[in-house]
Amino acid sequence: MKSASDFADMKRRGEKIVVLTAYDAPTARLEAAAGVDIILVGDSVGVNVLGYGHEREVTLADMAHHIAAVRRGAPDIYIIGDLPYATYDTSEQALANAKVLTGAGADCIKFEGAQPELVRALKTAGFDVCCHIGLESQHQLEKRRQGKTAEAARKLLEDAAALDAAGQDFIVLELVPSELAERISRDIAAPTIGIGAGADNDGQVLVVNDLAGITEREFKHNHRYGAIGKALGDAVAAYVRDVRAGAFPREEHGFHMAEDEYAAFLR
Ligand code: KIV
Ligand code: NA
Repeated sequence: MKSASDFADMKRRGEKIVVLTAYDAPTARLEAAAGVDIILVGDSVGVNVLGYGHEREVTLADMAHHIAAVRRGAPDIYIIGDLPYATYDTSEQALANAKVLTGAGADCIKFEGAQPELVRALKTAGFDVCCHIGLESQHQLEKRRQGKTAEAARKLLEDAAALDAAGQDFIVLELVPSELAERISRDIAAPTIGIGAGADNDGQVLVVNDLAGITEREFKHNHRYGAIGKALGDAVAAYVRDVRAGAFPREEHGFHMAEDEYAAFLR
């Protein structure tokens, strides 16, 4: 299992850190086998897997449930887990809830926003911490790109520096201009993990459902590396046709009693 300092070493060596979300054990197992460095169990589980309308609906119990599943599927992978909406309003609340997520199998706790005091509290208590600025889904009901004006960009750069000074281990930069992400990546010690933030981050993250082509919506920041949604839909449609036509199951899918048992059964 790699540690936060291994990832900091990767940044210093200029080696890209590959991060991907997962929410269940089989997907986590596939990601580990494919060489992903870090799995993010994000609150994106809500809209991608649980059928919620917004990240705000995700509960701490939801997060613990899915982190535990991912941990069972990928026992040796470094896992970052999201503290969901309204579970870190105070340091005390954040510490208690972070403990629930590490208890479920997370190695590192992520939360949204420029809150260096919260980083200090979590680090002091021994947690690895991943910050998240730019688009903050929990705090912005309208999901727009961030840091497009000089003033907004300067604020994000300051926020990133303050979180770094507080000791963050990683920072996600979501939907910020590529040149700003490049500058933040250069200025701070912690590895930056970009999404929709250009190529000049220390690592990249995507939502696995987007990458695999399960999500219906197309996002500008995403690249569809697969068509799993279509493959699954085709497989289900073929099953429906076969059952209705009596073509499934076939003889070999079942099994039989021994003849004497069957005879005794009929008697
Ligand atoms: O919840 C999530 O998947 C995230 C990523 C978009 C960074 O926070
Ligand atoms: Na998230």
